[in-house]
Amino acid sequence: MINKAPIGVFDSGVGGLTVVKEIMNQIPGETIIYFGDTARLPYGSKSGKTVITYTRQIIRFLMSKGVKAIVIACNTASAFALETVKSEFDIPMIGVVTPGAKVAAKTTRNGRIGVIGTEGTIQSGIYNEYLSRTDSRLEVFGKACPLFVPLVEEGLMDDPVTLEMARRYISEILEHQIDTLVLGCTHYPLLRKTIRKVVGEDIVLVNPAYETAKSLVEVLTEKGIRNDSTPKLNHKFYVSDGAEKFKRFANTILPCEVMETKDINIEELG
Ligand code: DGL
Repeated sequence: MINKAPIGVFDSGVGGLTVVKEIMNQIPGETIIYFGDTARLPYGSKSGKTVITYTRQIIRFLMSKGVKAIVIACNTASAFALETVKSEFDIPMIGVVTPGAKVAAKTTRNGRIGVIGTEGTIQSGIYNEYLSRTDSRLEVFGKACPLFVPLVEEGLMDDPVTLEMARRYISEILEHQIDTLVLGCTHYPLLRKTIRKVVGEDIVLVNPAYETAKSLVEVLTEKGIRNDSTPKLNHKFYVSDGAEKFKRFANTILPCEVMETKDINIEELG
């Protein structure tokens, strides 16, 4: 029966929906239980200790919903918490950092990789760590872009203000002649068009959301818990604040209609 159980996915807000979209495209038979921690967003400026506490609460909540695997669809939580919580809970768990870093290592031709993300993700050095372990010749240039998340949350994906901020943030790493740029925050794939305008056509943009969904398929297959029947899908969306706003946003991103989003008090439940 475990094969029919849902997959738990969480993020600090709406960004993780970019991962859900890829999961729905790649394995449309799986049911999703999503949690967006909208009341406590952003995670990107919080300490590792706080992000680990939040992550534990959310995992307990998702496990109470009977999920068979968990995707940490947030770069900051993957960077700070995945290694710690993986050993604390008995459930397959993946994050978004390793899948994105893996593809960046395979993609680069000149060994010079840019990574953009939240302050937490960039300061954690996790992409540098993974990439230099993969190949010590790789050079990684990170840049925190703290205003990108609020710009996306405000729906300003295609706005002159966002373009200007992208120019300011990204021009610095372009000076290092990178040929690959990792969108190391779940919100950033939503800024792809704007970022493309800044970097030009020659730099490969890596979207970890796509690679994460691929890794999830591998994990489910390896563990023999993939749902190969045609289930009656019953995706559920929970947030810690602003359910209506979240629902409107989700309906602009996902390939299915989100009928309902529930507000819950994660601190009480987790
Ligand atoms: N979802 C977070 C990430 O991918 C970005 C938003 C936040 O700072 O909470 O790092």
